[in-house]
Amino acid sequence: MRKFRTALVVVLVWSIVSAHFVSAQTRKQWQNAPDIERRIDTLLKQMSLEEKVGQLNQYSYGQPTGPTTGRSSVEESIRRGEIGSFLNVTDPVISNRLQRIAMEESRLKIPIIFGLDVIHGYRTIFPVPLALASTWDANLVERVSRIAAEEATSAGIRWTFSPMVDIARDPRWGRITEGAGEDPYLGSIMARSYVRGYQGEAFGAQSMAACAKHYVAYGAAEAGRDYNSVDMSERQLREVYLAPFKAAVDEGVATLMASFNTINGMPASANQFTLNQVLRREWNFRGFVVSDWGSVGELIPHGVANDLATATRKGFLAGVDMDMESNAYLRHLPNAIKAGQVSQAAIDEAVRRILRVKFALGLFDKPYVDEKNAITTLPAGNVMAAREAAEKSFVLLKNEAANGATGPVLPIRSGIGTVALIGPLADSQPDMLGTWSAKGKREDVITLRTALESRAKRDGFTLLYAKGTEIRGISDSGFAQAADVAAQADVVLLALGEDASWMNGEAASRAFIDLPGNQQQLLERIAAIGKPIALVLFSGRPLALTPVASRVHAILEAWSPGVQAGPALERIIFGDVAPAGRLTVTFPRSLGQVPIYHSMLNTGRPAVGLDLTRPPMDGSEKFKSRYIDEQNTPLYPFGFGVTYTNFEYSAPQVNVQQATVDELNSGRAQIRVTADVKNTGARAGEEVVQLYIGLRGTSVARPIRQLKNFRRIALGPGESRRVEFTIGRDELAIWQSDTKYEVEPAELTIWVASNAQAGTPTRVLLK
Ligand code: BGC
Repeated sequence: MRKFRTALVVVLVWSIVSAHFVSAQTRKQWQNAPDIERRIDTLLKQMSLEEKVGQLNQYSYGQPTGPTTGRSSVEESIRRGEIGSFLNVTDPVISNRLQRIAMEESRLKIPIIFGLDVIHGYRTIFPVPLALASTWDANLVERVSRIAAEEATSAGIRWTFSPMVDIARDPRWGRITEGAGEDPYLGSIMARSYVRGYQGEAFGAQSMAACAKHYVAYGAAEAGRDYNSVDMSERQLREVYLAPFKAAVDEGVATLMASFNTINGMPASANQFTLNQVLRREWNFRGFVVSDWGSVGELIPHGVANDLATATRKGFLAGVDMDMESNAYLRHLPNAIKAGQVSQAAIDEAVRRILRVKFALGLFDKPYVDEKNAITTLPAGNVMAAREAAEKSFVLLKNEAANGATGPVLPIRSGIGTVALIGPLADSQPDMLGTWSAKGKREDVITLRTALESRAKRDGFTLLYAKGTEIRGISDSGFAQAADVAAQADVVLLALGEDASWMNGEAASRAFIDLPGNQQQLLERIAAIGKPIALVLFSGRPLALTPVASRVHAILEAWSPGVQAGPALERIIFGDVAPAGRLTVTFPRSLGQVPIYHSMLNTGRPAVGLDLTRPPMDGSEKFKSRYIDEQNTPLYPFGFGVTYTNFEYSAPQVNVQQATVDELNSGRAQIRVTADVKNTGARAGEEVVQLYIGLRGTSVARPIRQLKNFRRIALGPGESRRVEFTIGRDELAIWQSDTKYEVEPAELTIWVASNAQAGTPTRVLLK
């Protein structure tokens, strides 16, 4: 019997291990598939120089650049083999028509790859990526991306310019909403989930090639101004900004997009170090790199090329394989080759990378899409997934009792008499979609107002609504009606925040990160009435909420929640579901603290033990790393979020007091950490248990804390669970030089906590 059991266990373990191994293999198989390479060899031998360069060329369909001066010239271009890819074709009838020209009328019948920004859904729009990251739920993100791939591929889109894996620590930068936030560990987990979701276990008809962007450090734009310069140490670049890209490459991502910004003086789209050295030589990336929109041409204003011919040469030689919308490669690469500035071999290699992805996707064998099967209406199951994603992405930042009540404002108890819903975001369908909404339709959005109206009918309470003002309003003409509505209510729901398409996403940097327009004044007017207030905040970025938080009893950060905004919010607000999201970006107290993030270094003059809520009184208080007019801590730290119950953590326990660096480096030793987490409240809830480490005594200064793992757990009332983590080489190694990472002797501090500022430290000596 025992033998049988052992055999069973062995078989079970083997099948789990091999399943993992096989899926990892399958996902990457396309990179080194002999049959694909053979087919590419055959094709390359037949291709003319012009046809090769054509594969490196991408146009946006219908844009004023490229061969768009009349349909015939597009067709002629395809026929001549001048276009390897289009972006922005979303009608399968058009993509099939263009593809048919490539497959039937061009000499070598190389299929076109159609790309699109499918960023958080295609037809069904999910919450924006920053919101999706706030779920801390890798499986959910994978599922959502899979749905996006199923919908988009049904319309012939086989390549998405997603995920954006840029680390972002400056909320002024509008594109912070497109990524996973400030942390390289969490960012890497999310990067992998998106890649798995879009590309699938193995490339099939419902796979989209993913594109990790924007390579690299685009999110570190100085002063949060979009497209601005980036200057940073190699350590910071490798340990923080490159990390999620590395994760995407390890997961088998098919493409990367080179970014607009300079890195240490060299534009990313002409950067030999990041593209050729790191990506190709060190990471052995086998897919292709596309430029960002016009980023090869932008080498001219950057000042590293005086003409498009030079920009072409520099971009191409640095390793940008495909030119998106600079109209540069097609015009100038043939001459560069003829002049001997660019080698035939280099061209062949770039073409090979692009063809490799086209073969991997199966485009040669199945170039067309079934127009009849294109998903145009919202599939019910996908809508349910959108609601679930939204529910899990909301972060409850504050929830207090109002006016001496016994419990906090949220959830609103059943049996409430009158609810006032006030604010410009309460009923705005377009703003729920967020930036980049592919084929999402505003009509599909159910707003908070609509959802609450049905709830009011069902539950028998009165709902009063007033818009109050516009999102960027200047007139206070709606204030009086809003105040009137608030005065009649038992509880006020304020729906305030940013406008999703103008204030979030690309080219949407803000120099002020407070409530736009006169929304703060509206809020103050309502607060003066003295009713319990819960703010539902719609924003694509952290806002500086100090003047807001002091005037409301609850704040629910709702981001841009997607098509199911209303139902998801209503279910949280009335407590059908408990909030479960946690911040993946730090919320500052004020703009002057920006950039502020949890993994900062210590300083030589840390302001520990000082009361920073008041200005310094003397020199000993002043000459510290602090502000004289603001605290150092954030308003809401990374990892933070409360829910309708409370959790208590034990101090972490470790299985060893010390470990040797040799054993850790060789993988022979690992430190086991456990902590007990208890739900001390009266209702069930989900907690994101976070593992942080700090290292002292190392060769270089290390962040005070770094996130190294997390686990999402669900606990019933009174329930307690022991959570276990291991810490080894992956968690401890420090970048040394080139590709070398090593564990160093250090004092290791470990926290298991609910956010980056909580937890009891435990120490282990690394000798
Ligand atoms: C953006 C990219 C996007 C591309 C194609 C650029 O302006 O920076 O993120 O993928 O356009 O739409």
